[in-house]
Amino acid sequence: MLIKRPSDIKPSEITDPETYAKRREFLKAAAALGVGGLIGGPVSALVTPSGQGVPMRGLVDTTHGDGLALTSYDDITSYNNFYEFGTGKEDPARYAHQLKTRPWSVVVDGECEAPGTIDIEEILKRFPQEERIYRLRCVEAWAMVVPWVGFPLSSLLSRFKPTSKAKYVAFETLVDPQQMPGQKRAVLDWPYREGLRMDEAMHPLTILGTGLYGELMPNQNGAPLRLVVPWKYGFKSIKSIVRISFTFNQPTTTWWESAPHEYGFYANVNPEVDHPRWSQARHRMIGEGLFSRKHPTLMFNGYADQVADLYRGMDLTKFY
Ligand code: MTE
Repeated sequence: MLIKRPSDIKPSEITDPETYAKRREFLKAAAALGVGGLIGGPVSALVTPSGQGVPMRGLVDTTHGDGLALTSYDDITSYNNFYEFGTGKEDPARYAHQLKTRPWSVVVDGECEAPGTIDIEEILKRFPQEERIYRLRCVEAWAMVVPWVGFPLSSLLSRFKPTSKAKYVAFETLVDPQQMPGQKRAVLDWPYREGLRMDEAMHPLTILGTGLYGELMPNQNGAPLRLVVPWKYGFKSIKSIVRISFTFNQPTTTWWESAPHEYGFYANVNPEVDHPRWSQARHRMIGEGLFSRKHPTLMFNGYADQVADLYRGMDLTKFY
């Protein structure tokens, strides 16, 4: 497999899983001793205009995902879905360096009292950036464990004061075929769109990702800002977001529009509901090899105790 990485990620900036795990242990020990404030610096110090491969300092450590074995940085950043850069899994790593992620701002509008625009620098400064290890499970039956950096989507949404008419949240990716050459082809109806029900969007597990492995988000993973919804299939995790809209009606989503019998609005990881072309009951971990043993998939990707209540009373074979 030919693996290329964007030229602006230096080898010295890549953290291997072992070093990263040690750093987490160190952070925990330091926090226990009450010296957390001495580590890193103010979050503003991590904001740099140069973009990817930049270590993020002053991160808030969390216990999310403790004990899960991490997928390597190389695998997370070289096997991607990001159709704006091509439909091949290696295309995003090859071409996403063309995306300029500074300056970058996100429009927040729709059913809210305080619509507006927020800049990525402000997002990084204002919202404490947390490290959370979440599983990413793809509909094509592969999975990764990613040490994301991000912050609860709910804290951003609340600032724009959604009204009682806000029943859903819709997301859109940038459209710019010059920077995103995959958009020159009509493989999908651009922009890439996604949506969540309001209670899903406000759930504490739902984050806006700004980085991974303690570094600013690599372009191929959706820099500078992407959604991470750990109990849903990866396609819900829309990348390079430029617009977030509160809506009264259920929004259109890219994969539902493109193949409604295969991809529903909910996209909850569900081993009991097969995709029309394959089973969802088992998956392969990226990094373990093509012929590795498959793992049984857990309901809601292992987050059932925290999210099953959101879907109580719903027929999940119908709302897939
Ligand atoms: N976001 C945009 N804008 N374009 C895409 O093609 N692909 C989705 C999702 N977000 C996609 C996207 C799919 S199908 C998956 S599985 C995840 O991104 C993959 O995320 P990763 O590349 O970080 O593993």
